[in-house]
Amino acid sequence: MNFKSRNIVSIWDFTKDEVEFILDSAEEMVPIARGEETNTALSGKILATLFYEPSTRTRFSFESAMKRLGGSTVGFADPSGTSFKKGETLADTIKMVDAYSDVIVLRHPQEGSARLAAEFSSKPVINAGDGAGQHPTQTLLDLFTIRQAKGKIEGNKIVFVGDLKYGRTVHSLAYALSMFGPELNFVAPETLQMPKEVVEHVTACDTKVCSGNKLEDFINDADVVYVTRIQKERFPDEAEYQKVAHIYQIKNTLLQNVKDDLIIMHPLPRVDEIAPEVDKTPHARYFEQAFNGIPVRMALLKLVLGVS
Ligand code: NCD
Repeated sequence: MNFKSRNIVSIWDFTKDEVEFILDSAEEMVPIARGEETNTALSGKILATLFYEPSTRTRFSFESAMKRLGGSTVGFADPSGTSFKKGETLADTIKMVDAYSDVIVLRHPQEGSARLAAEFSSKPVINAGDGAGQHPTQTLLDLFTIRQAKGKIEGNKIVFVGDLKYGRTVHSLAYALSMFGPELNFVAPETLQMPKEVVEHVTACDTKVCSGNKLEDFINDADVVYVTRIQKERFPDEAEYQKVAHIYQIKNTLLQNVKDDLIIMHPLPRVDEIAPEVDKTPHARYFEQAFNGIPVRMALLKLVLGVS
C-alpha cells in the first residue's frame, strides 16, 4: 500500500483496505498522541495549515499531531491577515505555500477548493472541509471511534441526525460507511435531508437506508447516533435557518429506552442539539471522538510524507 505524496481530498480517494490500514496505523499512534511516548519521525518536516473558515478541533489536532511527531507548522486560522485580503487567488497562495512546506491542510468555504489546490501543489493536499462537500479526515476519526467502541464497523445500525444537507462530515461518513455495509438511517427535516447523490451512491453499494424526520422513531434500535449541528453559515437566508434552528435536542429523557451500548457521536462544535446532561451518560462519545483526531491525523501525516 502506497500513500506517499497522495492528496486526501475525498473519502473516495481510499479503498476499504486502505481505510482499515490507516485505522490500524492510528491505533499505534495513541500512546504518542497522549504524550506517553515520544517520537520524532517527522522532524524537519513542515505542515502548512490554511484555514479560510473557523476551526478548533481540526486545526489544533493537525498541529498537535505534527508537533507530537517532531515536525513544525506554519499557517493561518483567519485569512484576513493574509494576501487573500489583497485579492490573491487560492491557486497563487497554494503555489507559494507549496514552496514553504511539505504538506498542506486546507479548509475553505467553497466545494471543490481542495481538488483545485491539489492541482496547483506538488505537495500533498489534505482537505479539512470544503464547504458542504467532504471532510475526509473527520470521517477517518469517526470510523476509528466507531471501531474502538464497537469492535467493528460492520453490522451496526447508524442513525445520522441534524443537518444532512449542508453537513460535510455526514456526506463523507455516509460514503465511507457504505464500504462496510451497515444500516443507515437519515433523520432530518425534509429541507435538510441527505442529498440525493449520497443516498443513490450508498444504496448502490447495497447499504440499507431508511429516512425520516423524528429521532424518536429510530433511536431505540440504534447502535450509533451521529448528531450534527444545523450549519447556519451555509443557509442562503436567515429566515430559513430559523425554521429549523432548534429542531433536535437530545436530552436524557430521550435516552430512556435506548440500547445500553448506544454511542452518541458529534463532530462538534455543538450548539444545543445535545444537552450537557448527556455528557455524563455512558452513551456520550464526542469528546473521545475529538481526541481521536490526533492519532488519526498523525498516521495520515506519516503516510503521505512517506515516513515509517
Ligand atoms: C465540523 C466541520 O467543520 O464540518 N467540525 C469539525 O471539523 N469537527 C462540523 C461542524 O462545523 O458542524
